[in-house]
Amino acid sequence: MSEVGTYEVIDGIGVITINSPPVNALGYNTRVALDEGFRKFGADDAVKAIVLACAGRTFFAGADISEFGQPPRAPDLRDVLDLIENTAKPVIAAIHGTALGGGYELALVCHHRIAVPSAKVGLPEVKLGLLPGAGGTQRLPRIVGIEAALDIITGGNPIGASQALSLGMIDALAQEGNLAADAVAFARTILAEGRPLVKVRDRQDKVEPARGKPEIYAGFMKKNAKAFRGFQAPVNIVKAIEAAAELPFDQGIVRERELFEDLMAGSQSGAQRNFFFAERQTTKIPDVPSDTPILPIKTVGVIGAGTMGGGITMNFLNAGIPVTLVEMTQEALDRGTGVIRRNYENTAKKGRMTQDQVEQRMALITPAITYDALADVDLVIEAVFEEMSVKKAVFGKLDAICKQGAILASNTSYLDLNEIAEATSRPQDVIGLHFFSPANVMRLLEVVRGAKTRKDIIATAMALAKTIGKVPVLAGVCHGFIANRVMTVRSLAADALVLRGPSPQEIDKAIFDYGFAVGPYQMMDIVGLDVIGRGATERTIRGDLVKLDRLGQKKNGGFYDYDENRNATPSPVAAKVIADLAADLGINAIGSLGADEIVAHLLYPVVNEAARVLEEGIALRASDIDVACLLGYNWPVFTGGPTYWADTVGLDKVVDGLRAMGHEPARLLVEKAAKGEKFNG
Ligand code: 3HC
Ligand code: NAI
Repeated sequence: MSEVGTYEVIDGIGVITINSPPVNALGYNTRVALDEGFRKFGADDAVKAIVLACAGRTFFAGADISEFGQPPRAPDLRDVLDLIENTAKPVIAAIHGTALGGGYELALVCHHRIAVPSAKVGLPEVKLGLLPGAGGTQRLPRIVGIEAALDIITGGNPIGASQALSLGMIDALAQEGNLAADAVAFARTILAEGRPLVKVRDRQDKVEPARGKPEIYAGFMKKNAKAFRGFQAPVNIVKAIEAAAELPFDQGIVRERELFEDLMAGSQSGAQRNFFFAERQTTKIPDVPSDTPILPIKTVGVIGAGTMGGGITMNFLNAGIPVTLVEMTQEALDRGTGVIRRNYENTAKKGRMTQDQVEQRMALITPAITYDALADVDLVIEAVFEEMSVKKAVFGKLDAICKQGAILASNTSYLDLNEIAEATSRPQDVIGLHFFSPANVMRLLEVVRGAKTRKDIIATAMALAKTIGKVPVLAGVCHGFIANRVMTVRSLAADALVLRGPSPQEIDKAIFDYGFAVGPYQMMDIVGLDVIGRGATERTIRGDLVKLDRLGQKKNGGFYDYDENRNATPSPVAAKVIADLAADLGINAIGSLGADEIVAHLLYPVVNEAARVLEEGIALRASDIDVACLLGYNWPVFTGGPTYWADTVGLDKVVDGLRAMGHEPARLLVEKAAKGEKFNG
């Protein structure tokens, strides 16, 4: 008897139920149970058809990712799938929750697939830097056709049951909550009708039309060039799908395996798999146990309806949570709510929301110009100007007005949360909720723990993040918390380097080729040099450009010149400003550098700052810093984030590089390098 499988016969139908919490991943025990169940029922003449179902919250969530890179243990997943596909009686997959990756590939070797309406199916391997390696690239095109398979497998997003039904990815819908009985009834119908056993692998009708048409794949790659840039997995996926059209099934499977192994051996998948687990680690806080009570958040107040306040508000409206939005004047309030409405209406215009939904969300806002409106809310998030005196005044008022036990949160980017908290008589109820701009889009939420913040408030903030679709990362109090602090160092390093010879465009190109969407100077031109340089007291390149009224893309160019279509060209004016400042400061040129050296100059200091953040206990673990940089600054996921990337470079090399560039390496970095340790694992 297997540890995770139960096998029962209901009126001639063998029902195999797998129960391997939390998500029925296809790890060793599960494979053993499947192997045992299918052998047992395959040999049992009393069993005329087999239903395969899962207990718990979901159908199989795929291969067990934690087994990747470990020595293989028989039975191999592909052998189990062969056994199922070659069963000489109908096999029906009964799907609830999510059938993902190897889980959906398993469903594809069954002869029929039935799912409840709330179920989702998909092949998300691309998000792990992989391709479906258990026949998915060969079987899915045989059901949905080559073009649809290209979209589905390179996109990796789960597909809802009704769409899956129309695509043929499932064959029938069961009634919600009645899957087991409906699947058995479905099996009986098949037997009664004497339907022939059809294996997906034997179907050719959907792939034949694409045979001998290489232009399909070239066109697809071209259309997606921007989205796929830098990623290896989509390239291999497209090759594997082409094999489904061009090769007999058995040869296609061999090709799929080669392309899968190629990705497994490359560096990207390791980085992306590490991120998968890193994202799920962030809520685990050693001194805040998982059973810490969560406070109910039924109503929220947001103060300030500017850039951040508006975006923050939208997160709660999207989750159906009413928001009282407070501004200083009616005019500012109208402007803020107007921006929110326009955002929703743009979404509606794109067909991603109905006009009714726009109205429903807007109706959840209670606009106010007095703080009294916040007396009863469960959580207030302050997003007013970034000035300590203003923040303190706001928190003083909140202290007087808000009900006892309410969570008082600040969205400050850099200010000392403890000082803000001390402006109240209840610093234990104060926390930082640091969103990233645009706040309704960016997935990172830094949860800033003050010296006195209550544990149940931290636990509540972590849970709330999930409710509003964010990934929370816990940060301690310091200037800039995690992501801003670590990534600011990149800009400082760029500014130091550009004065020594490499041009803004060489620096931008090196960073773009590393995988970031834009380089630091392109970014500054987009945001506006007047905004970024604001408040600087020393002479800077940005400041000198602003003096020439070069504010970036919005006015006269910045680090680049722009034509009327915003196409950038290197700017002789900017080059002169840089050269003049370097001369005035007496900085010597170092000559030209290779792209790798430029990357090292900009990103080794980021790694160094990450080490300091870790050493000071500002971040709980290295992988939290990576999550913050990936989700807050779009650090390219296929390099894993600063600490994962540094591990792949070698910490000793990073330490040597930092010293050679004149930086003092962080103590933790030096220690780890000396011991041959890594940041992660
Ligand atoms: N392998 C190992 N562990 C997994 C796993 C998997 N495939 N999927 C989820 N887990 C773990 C998570 O790490 C987490 O562990 P923790 O509780 O210790 O932190 C736990 O299961 C619960 O996961 P979530 O917090 O993500 O739970 P949700 O309910 O929010 O989501 C899910 C469930 C939608 C199934 C989501 O977990 C998910 O998307 N899983 C990954 C799916 C996937 O990528 N499958 C493809 C795997 S690769 C593959 O199949 C290769 C094949 O082609 C050969
Ligand atoms: P903003 O200037 O766009 O908006 C601030 C709003 O607060 C204005 O509409 C102003 O009228 C209002 N306001 C000021 N004092 C107020 C008061 N006493 N009562 C009520 N309303 C008041 O500023 P932005 O960019 O939204 O920043 C707000 C906060 O968010 C700052 O602390 C900032 O550091 C932080 N932040 C900003 C990010 C960004 O990219 N803009 C990113 C993350 C955090």
